[in-house]
Formats: sequence, C-alpha cells, structure tokens
Amino acid sequence: MAGLKDKLYSKIQEWRPRTTRLLKEYGDVKVDDVTISQIIGGMRDIKCLTTDISYLDPMEGIRFRGFTIPEVLEKLPKVPGSEMPYVEGFYYLLLTGDLPTDEDIKEVASEFRKRQEVPLYVIDILRTMPRDTHPMTMLSAAVVAMQRESIFARDYHKLNKMDYWDATYEDSLNLLAKLPQIAAYIYRMKYKGDTIIYPDKDLDMGGNFAHMMGIDTPYDDISRLYFILHSDHESGNVSAHTGHLIASALSDIYYATSGMINGLAGPLHGLANQEVLAWIQDVIHSMDGKIPNEEEMKTFVWNTLKSGKVIPGFGHAVLRKTDPRYTAQREFCLKYLQGDPIFKFVDLLYKVVPPILLEQGKAKNPWPNVDAQSGVIQWYYGVREYDFYTVMFAVGRALGVTANIIWGRALGYPLERPKSLTTEMLEKAAGIV
Ligand SMILES: CC(C)(COP(=O)(O)OP(=O)(O)OC[C@H]1O[C@@H](n2cnc3c(N)ncnc32)[C@H](O)[C@@H]1OP(=O)(O)O)[C@@H](O)C(=O)NCCC(=O)NCCS
Repeated sequence: MAGLKDKLYSKIQEWRPRTTRLLKEYGDVKVDDVTISQIIGGMRDIKCLTTDISYLDPMEGIRFRGFTIPEVLEKLPKVPGSEMPYVEGFYYLLLTGDLPTDEDIKEVASEFRKRQEVPLYVIDILRTMPRDTHPMTMLSAAVVAMQRESIFARDYHKLNKMDYWDATYEDSLNLLAKLPQIAAYIYRMKYKGDTIIYPDKDLDMGGNFAHMMGIDTPYDDISRLYFILHSDHESGNVSAHTGHLIASALSDIYYATSGMINGLAGPLHGLANQEVLAWIQDVIHSMDGKIPNEEEMKTFVWNTLKSGKVIPGFGHAVLRKTDPRYTAQREFCLKYLQGDPIFKFVDLLYKVVPPILLEQGKAKNPWPNVDAQSGVIQWYYGVREYDFYTVMFAVGRALGVTANIIWGRALGYPLERPKSLTTEMLEKAAGIV
C-alpha cells in the first residue's frame, strides 16, 4: 500500500524530532501533581499518557485528529448512496491526521479486501467453543489465536527499532480487515442457526459487515457510524489503555487487541451497552410489557440506585456533559426511529435520569454516555441479542487502539511501568504515622 504507508512514514519522520526534543531538552518540565485520592482512586485525571490520535475535552467531548464528531461525519468522503463516511477513510484520518481523497480511500479499501480472509483454524476454534460462551470471549479467543500470523513477532529479532512501526502497521491492517468477518461469523453461528453469510468483495467495511450480519440498509450506515464513534476516546480508558500497556512490552497487535477486548468486556466499560438494554428489558418485563410513564420510570431509576447498582449508560470518568457520541446516535434515532417504543423509553431516560443522579449527589457526571443510545438502534434493526453489542464496540475500538500502537512504536514509546507505594507510605506522606 504505497500511498497510505508512504504518507504515514513521512508523517512519522516529521513527528519524531518533536518527541525527541521534548525528551532531551524538556524532560524535567513538570506537567502535573498527584494526590493520594488519585493514587487510590484509579489514577483518575493524572496526566501521564501521550496520544495525538484523539483528545477528550470534558465539556466538548472527543476530537479525532482535531475534528469533532459532526465535523468527521461531514468532512469525510461518503460511501456512494449513503449518509455515512467510509470507515476506511476514517482510519486513514486516524493514522495520518489528514482527510483522505476518494483515491486514498479506494486504496485502503482494496488493501482491507486483500487481507480479509480469516484462517480456517480460527473458525474451527470458534466452532469448538460452547455456544453459550459470551461473544466477547469468542472474539478475544479468535484474535489471540491468530497471534501466530504476527509479522512483528516473526521478524522481531531482525527488526531495527526504527522499523517496528512498519511490521506493526502490517499486523494492524491484517487484523482489522478480518475483524468484521469474525464478529459477523460469531453472530450468525451463535444466534442465527449457523447460517453464515460470506463477505462481498465489492463492499466497504461497514457495508460488508451489514451484509454478513444479514441486515438491510440503513444497517450499513449504522455499522459505519458505530465503528467510527467507538474507535477512540484518548488513551486512558480501560480498553485503549490495556491495548497500549500490552503493546508497550512489545507484545504484538494480536496480543494487545485481545487484551483490549477483555478490558472492554467489563460492565463499567463497553459492556454497559448490553447492560442498558438488559435493564430496559427488565423494567418492561416487570411492567408486563408496558412502557412506563415518567413517574413509574423515576421509581425504577431510584429502585436501581437504592439496590446499590449503577444506572448503565450514564456517567463518565472524564466527560462532564452529554456524550457527543450519544448525540450523534440520538440524531440518527430522531430521523429513523420515531415512534419506536424502546427509543421512547431511552428518550424518557434522558429526561429522568440526570436530575435523579444530581439529586443523589454521587455521580460527577449525570449525563448519558455512548452506551445509553447504541443498543436501541441495534435492537430496532433486529440485533436483539444484546450480549453481542460490545463485540461491535470492539471492532470499532480496534481502529483507535491499532492506530495508537503503530504511532507508539514509531515514536519509540517505552515499556510502561508506573511506581506503586504501600498504604503505609501513603500514610507517611499524609503525616498520619
Ligand atoms: C462510567 C463510570 C464507571 C465512571 O466512573 P467514575 O469515574 O468512578 O464516576 P464518578 O467519579 O462520577 O463516581 C462517583 C460515584 O458516583 C457513582 N456513579 C457514577 N455513575 C453512576 C451511575 N450511572 N449510576 C449510579 N451511580 C453512579 C459511582 O458508582 C461512584 O459511587 P461510589 O462513590 O459509591 O463508588 C460510572 O459513571 C458508571 O458506572 N456508569 C455506568 C456504567 C456505564 O455507563 N459505563 C460506560 C461508560 S462509557
């Protein structure tokens, strides 16, 4: 892939002196102080990671390579006949920082097509797993099983450190090209009576995923939107950070992505989109199929809080306003899902939950995050097996995680190794022992 790879290489060459200069000339400059509550409290807000792929402002939300979500959706070239951009073009943007031309996109798409064949042993492994295995476990197992394909791992001893990014780039494209097919295979095998639909080589990544899921348009646009929105959210969130941490040991993309998937599978992170739908179904079930009114909804929300559980899809570790990824999906729903009972439910939650969380006074951010809205779209278009939702999140997240790892290798980011302290050391620092 001459175009993208050459462009990436020239960007890397331009960027390297900036990192080298910061390290050599300004390495002692202090950018943050760390408190005991941050150390005990999950390292929240400590400024200790670097990425140029995306930046999350607490009030504004995410920017991918400097572009907000509405800008990304507006400026990237669209798939002909669709409202959404090519995922392939978005990956070009993540890697290079530049908006792609139609030609650039064609090249990435053709590269993905060439690399999309999934090895048979991966299919065999998936088929031997008990069918009630969680689809995230299946996805993670499929990805780590492919580790034997890693060009980086194969060539590691021969590679010059300056060229690590190149083999990592090849591994990333090889893996990304296969992920939609693996995900759709898991779906059709597990939930659709093993009726597998094979890829269509003429389709783009999002279109092909919808095709392999067996769902008509506009599900292709939903898939494009879904993969783009879930791709990256800076480096400190559990999935992105896990991928980065694993890769910092020079473990290859397959190990890092499988680990990323495992982190995403937690209910406080990506699995929240499944939890939202499960929670909604519970409420509807306990109302004998009726959608609750506003007062009944408030009671359910309070009951959930009083039982010590969180309201899934609300709150965020960094954001302090409604997640623009929620808003982008809500706009899609307002256009296509008007009148849908589950959307009405989600819409009512938007009205009811934030004031209750504010009144309860615990959550720092009472507003909805991406997961509050994503399940309802999937449900509407027939993907009602909500334990599958996080798998699609993972396919999207792999775009951001691999882009970050490629750049991490290019800029020579070292092994990650923060320092631990004992409780007694913290007590001494506090002056209480
Ligand atoms: C996302 C999340 C894990 C962030 O956690 P965090 O950074 O610790 O959030 P906060 O600092 O605001 O948490 C402070 C308190 O508010 C609570 N809180 C935060 N969000 C809450 C929610 N949606 N419902 C109920 N309580 C919530 C926390 O559990 C915590 O309680 P504690 O002090 O008893 O432990 C949290 O908001 C959450 O659990 N949300 C629901 C799950 C979810 O939607 N995850 C997807 C995130 S993209």
